[in-house]
Amino acid sequence: MTGRTSLTVVLAAGEGTRMRSAMPKVLHPVAGQSLLAHVLAAAPKGAGASLAVVIGPDHRPVADEVKRLRPDAATFIQRERLGTAHAVLAARDAIARGADDLLVVFGDTPLISAATFDRLRAPLKKGAALAVLGFRAADPTGYGRLLVEGDQLLAIREQADASPAERAIRLSNAGVMALDGRKALQIIEKIGNANSKGEHYLTDAVAIVRQLGLEAVVIETSEDEVRGINTKTQLAEAEQVMQARLRQAALDAGVTMIAPETVYLAADTTFGSDVTIEPFVVIGPGVSISDGAVIHSFSHIVQASIGKNASVGPYARLRPGTSLGEGAKIGNFVETKAATLEAGVKVNHLSYIGDSHVGANTNIGAGTITCNYDGFGKHKTEIGAGAFVGTNSSLVAPVKIGNGAYIGSGSVITRDVPDDALALERNQQTNREGGAKRYREIKTQGKAPKVS
Ligand code: UD1
Ligand code: MG
Repeated sequence: MTGRTSLTVVLAAGEGTRMRSAMPKVLHPVAGQSLLAHVLAAAPKGAGASLAVVIGPDHRPVADEVKRLRPDAATFIQRERLGTAHAVLAARDAIARGADDLLVVFGDTPLISAATFDRLRAPLKKGAALAVLGFRAADPTGYGRLLVEGDQLLAIREQADASPAERAIRLSNAGVMALDGRKALQIIEKIGNANSKGEHYLTDAVAIVRQLGLEAVVIETSEDEVRGINTKTQLAEAEQVMQARLRQAALDAGVTMIAPETVYLAADTTFGSDVTIEPFVVIGPGVSISDGAVIHSFSHIVQASIGKNASVGPYARLRPGTSLGEGAKIGNFVETKAATLEAGVKVNHLSYIGDSHVGANTNIGAGTITCNYDGFGKHKTEIGAGAFVGTNSSLVAPVKIGNGAYIGSGSVITRDVPDDALALERNQQTNREGGAKRYREIKTQGKAPKVS
């Protein structure tokens, strides 16, 4: 939508009491991101697009989340909850700047898409003063009903104020609306509270627009897109919808998934080409998976970058700050945290590698543990390239293991181990030859690579 400026006002002042949680409602996660993050991701951004979020008086964590996601956004506090129109007016200062389009959206509708905002703005460009997002509710109980005549919207009637005939209408208000940004204040300020709840209903803007002789229209969308979250059940339902979307997008992008319905992705997961994800994998926020990588079953990955042709699991846990180089291999029952493993590193079985750097082509034997915590603080383990750490070794940090160093099985290493240049040369040679040999086997005889 080039050329037109916008202000998006996100209403997030609600208590969310039905979530039965100490956490403000809009901070609950779907696909690894807060409800609010999903809404902000869909809202117009870039040049000419400003954002205001209306929050409750004790919602410091919500303000922090806004700052993290959109540092350019303004937050406004609604001190008393006197209705949706009252909430919008909390952002009066931002609205008074007069963007071309004013968009109002609830912070608890995480499935809304950017394309829908564009569709809603289109009628404003053609001269309408107001466009409301509507949907045909399977069960409209509780929603505002849209009273229409042809393609014109006449009014929105809230459930509590609707007649039996009006309650039979299925076309419902999703809660998202676009107003002519220069007339919006004048319209919203006219809204009173003469209704059964005594609240200032934003939905009354429609009738006011008609009284002013201006045009109001409805743009329809699917119920799935405008699901509002009020309970943990609805949160779980939204997760299902979002996961289905993310899995489909991953499949469309060429990710191979044997049982996609068992794979959990985050909204920000990125994939290279020819990635394979086996059944029952959970991926949290901040994960990137490069070309050709394979994630085997029952692996759990959060804030990690996985290099080209790397292999993870089965049963691996990659915690925040893990970075795997090209062809690195993390086997079963291995946990990593704040660890960089360069290309070709192998940690095949039963290990913990935390606060560590491991140089290229190093082999970490089964049961190796980096003892990174001494009861007071965390310390770093640095392991060089082409090293060999024997099984069941404890590396007591802070400690450095040199390039090409050889650690015997069952060692407890409390002092730095120097480089072993000769061994490094030999190990790298073996690695190169091993790699080339395996490659020849696969290439020329079509044989499976030898299992080590
Ligand atoms: C609202 C709409 C209804 C629509 C439905 C869609 C009005 C009057 N009604 O009803 O037509 O079908 O949403 O889900 O707008 N909020 C504030 N401050 C307030 C009041 C509300 O910030 O003083 C925020 C809430 O946190 C929430 C949103 O506004 O995010 C909607 O409020 P809610 O009370 O849920 O309205 P509904 O009764 O669901
Ligand atoms: Mg609601």
